Amino acid sequence: MAINWFPGHMHKAQKEIKEILPTIDVVIEVCDARLPFSSENPMITEIRGDKPLIKILNKSDLADAQLTKVWLEYLDAQHNVKAIALTTESPSIAKQIPTLIKKLVPHKDQEGKQINAVIMGIPNVGKSTLLNTLVGKAKAKVGNEPAVTKGQQRIRLEDGLYLYDTPGMLWPKIVNENSGYRLAVTSAVKDTAFDHDEIACFAAEYLLEAYPDRLKERYKLEELPVTEVELIEAIGRKRGCVKSGGYVDFHKASAILINEIRDKTLGPLTFESPNMVEKEVVYFDEL
Ligand code: G4P
Repeated sequence: MAINWFPGHMHKAQKEIKEILPTIDVVIEVCDARLPFSSENPMITEIRGDKPLIKILNKSDLADAQLTKVWLEYLDAQHNVKAIALTTESPSIAKQIPTLIKKLVPHKDQEGKQINAVIMGIPNVGKSTLLNTLVGKAKAKVGNEPAVTKGQQRIRLEDGLYLYDTPGMLWPKIVNENSGYRLAVTSAVKDTAFDHDEIACFAAEYLLEAYPDRLKERYKLEELPVTEVELIEAIGRKRGCVKSGGYVDFHKASAILINEIRDKTLGPLTFESPNMVEKEVVYFDEL
């Protein structure tokens, strides 16, 4: 799957991050809890060096709670990383972030020195929404178009504690085609960047394996189809997407499945686990 990221954006973001990084004590990376690996920005891990990282699994209301727990443990085990799950449904947890930042640089906090943190992440993971929650008023503009957070701003969270807004536009970790598909399923990349039916097939194959009971219940299927194409056809038949001659309108049925994943009709879903992505990394490296 080809997703093109404009190299100019990459260059600009990289330059901006390198400029502010020396003054930064703690890096906060916001990811999507449904795909904590694929929604990472690969550059952050690479350039943060030894600085503490707060990894936020955001939109956790949309993600599978059990897998979020698995991801939190996995990420917490990494060097100098503290992972937390957030959702706009529980803003009080986000309010604990200033205390967490200070805990990660105890020497600075104890000496009363200024602490600077930066919030980063790919478009649409909820950075502006989180900034609004932290600041307490609508300072950052929220929207569904990538790169709405324009220009650099520094926000005072409390005495001696400052938060830099995300520098530039960061791109996701499309290290393999599965990551690209997952980003597309969750609408982290624009619909125009992919073939709709292909994405639905990818999602259907995963759901058959990971969430068979949800599919049975939602689409009232007594027996689960074996293949992803059969599943989408079964959904189409159930929803009356049948053309003359009795053929299922595959495109319409695919759209139903994707929409019901995105709007949480199929319940909270996570599209990757640490185990899965570790295997994939090895597999795609060997290709
Ligand atoms: P960004 O700065 O990283 O680009 O993301 P932004 O805050 O603009 O949020 C992108 C979308 O994600 C927004 O939806 C926002 O409401 C939604 N969002 C943020 N946090 C959460 C969360 O914890 N759970 C869920 N379910 N959604 C969240 P939108 O459709 O673009 O706008 P709207 O619904 O707010 O009108």
